[in-house]
Amino acid sequence: METKTKSFSPYAEAYNRSITDPEGFWGEQAGQIAWYEKPQQVLTTDEKGFYRWFKGGKLNTAYLALDYHVENGRADQTALIYDSPVTDTIRKYTYREFRDLVARFAGALRSLGVGKGDTVVIYMPVIPEAVIAMLACARLGAIHSVVFGGFAPHELSVRVDDAKPKVVISASCGIEFDKHIPYKPLLDKGLSDSKHKPQHAVILQRPYVHADMLPGRDLDYMELLQNAEPVDCVPVDAHDPLYILYTSGTTGKPKGIVRDNGGHAVALKYSMKAVYGVDSGDVFWAASDVGWAVGHSYLVYAPLIHGCATVLFEGKPVRTPDAGTFWRIIQEHEVKVLFTAPTAIRAIKKEDPDGKYKQKYNLPSLKYLFLAGERCDPATYYWAKDLLKVPVIDHWWQTESGWPMVANMVGLERHTSKAGSAGKPVCGYQVEILNEEGQELIANQEGYVAVRLPLPPGCLPTLWQDDERFFKSYLERFPGYYMTGDGGYIDEDGYVYIMGRIDDVINVSGHRLSTGEMEEMVSSHPAVAECAVIGIADELRGQRPIGLVVLKDGQTISEAEIEQDLVSMIREKIGAVAYFRNALIVKRLPKTRSGKILRKIMRNIADGDHYAIPSTIDDPAILTEIHDCLRDRNIGNAFLHKNLNTN
Ligand code: COA
Ligand code: AMP
Repeated sequence: METKTKSFSPYAEAYNRSITDPEGFWGEQAGQIAWYEKPQQVLTTDEKGFYRWFKGGKLNTAYLALDYHVENGRADQTALIYDSPVTDTIRKYTYREFRDLVARFAGALRSLGVGKGDTVVIYMPVIPEAVIAMLACARLGAIHSVVFGGFAPHELSVRVDDAKPKVVISASCGIEFDKHIPYKPLLDKGLSDSKHKPQHAVILQRPYVHADMLPGRDLDYMELLQNAEPVDCVPVDAHDPLYILYTSGTTGKPKGIVRDNGGHAVALKYSMKAVYGVDSGDVFWAASDVGWAVGHSYLVYAPLIHGCATVLFEGKPVRTPDAGTFWRIIQEHEVKVLFTAPTAIRAIKKEDPDGKYKQKYNLPSLKYLFLAGERCDPATYYWAKDLLKVPVIDHWWQTESGWPMVANMVGLERHTSKAGSAGKPVCGYQVEILNEEGQELIANQEGYVAVRLPLPPGCLPTLWQDDERFFKSYLERFPGYYMTGDGGYIDEDGYVYIMGRIDDVINVSGHRLSTGEMEEMVSSHPAVAECAVIGIADELRGQRPIGLVVLKDGQTISEAEIEQDLVSMIREKIGAVAYFRNALIVKRLPKTRSGKILRKIMRNIADGDHYAIPSTIDDPAILTEIHDCLRDRNIGNAFLHKNLNTN
């Protein structure tokens, strides 16, 4: 199907140009940021045949985010608003104040030997010091890798071993509702388990929990900052990495998504107006954790590069202190755009279905609610739209892209949203639906969602020190395309519907996790012969994982015992966020005759969805056994299948 859009409109014009003349289009956009040296070429391929943007350009991303604005009239404008209901704090930083802090902390890192090309791991809650650490790395040309604070030590150590940081930056605790979560024991365990040992751990002591320091290795964040001299921005190449962000793949080894400096800055700057419709000086709020891609792109880099004030929220949509927190923040800080995950809206809806809290606030500043991280179900879409009386915009992207691939580009021209669709392809992304053979499907046929190469600037150029995995994971399956890992379809009007992952990745409360990794862990249990971990529908979290295990012959462990073991194991190894709460013992797993486990069908059974029994199935009777096990435990919607109705 032709994804170039036919009708004449500002969106269609811009989109078509971005596809037919990517160099002209992005060359122009590159003119919107301040380079030390302008790129010599817009689009090139490197020696491995991978596309690269803005060859020869020299810039510094922290300069664009802070110094540029200080030098160009925004020194006294608010850059960052830290709003933390869990610590009862609201603190605002001007561009000048924030630049000065970042420059000093960069000096502190330099005093520890951190320089251009070195890696630094940041394992922190959502606090200004996390953003300062990210930008301080960028200032030095060092490469940061933020690890989500909700991850357990095992996940941290895997990332430390891959990124090999010189320094790790952390804090004494995070805060979950009213619970203080000490980070230092997690950090210590992660670093004692990792083969790579960073030279130093810089620890911010928060007043709520004191971290014991390891002499020699551990350094106090505040002392270091107080003794540091500010340093200047270090020019880097457009192709130099700005950060690595690990994301779940289909195995226990996360993928190190690399973000370069040049393409990233150009794409993010462009997206702020074109996709989100915001101007410099506006207040933009991405209610995300700094550990996720949204937290990188739209909490830190894009709003600052665009000269906005960004809101850094340390709290939850509910119970910090109530379901009105989001509306209070929008009113108090005059937020123009809120970007959050549908799960956050569902959490508010669950606690306040009639929107009573919203009535306490006036939100004239709010123009749009953008949602991403998982598909926005129509019920949530309509509830939010009715409550807020502003356009609710579902849009689709991935850690890999770093910015939206499908959206409603309200800055160019707002099209009517369709509930359940993420909108239309964003400029630069030629989105197509392919069948197994890589042929393009016609409208409304569901298949693999792929993006024709080259991907626009800002998308991952490769995986950290692993070009081969990059090629195999994304480019090999459909030559000439980037395979997204999602399934979906495009309707006759060009609207894209993303229907879910076609691999072993799930989204739990907007957190991307690997069921493949969980399977590796579950199968390491001594009583387990084989297993499958599948993501089933969860009303609040979107999805949650459950395990189906076949015991080794002669094992007598009860279902309750093994469930307890596996729940603790996943919690300890991945973290509580995985929300693995159920494991069932089954006699057999459904497989094809060639031995492939039929996970999708089990998911359909658990969700009460219709499914077709593949002709290649080894023994269809197993499906009835799985269904009965789920129904007997009252898990998911298996009860909806009264007699294993198939289509
Ligand atoms: N650090 C440590 N632990 C964390 C954590 C973090 N950053 N985030 C979550 N957890 C823990 C929780 O405390 C909870 O622990 P428990 O089992 O001991 O109670 C567990 O992980 C499960 O958490 P969650 O699934 O988040 O449930 P919840 O009841 O705590 O909160 C929501 C539910 C919907 C309010 C919450 O998931 C939420 O705010 N989601 C939105 C997430 C989001 O915006 N994602 C966007 C990424 S783009
Ligand atoms: P992450 O890399 O954590 O951003 O997760 C990316 C994945 O989340 C995508 O591959 C999708 O499966 C899912 N996702 C994100 N946004 C949407 C959306 N708007 N609609 C449907 N799925 C989405």
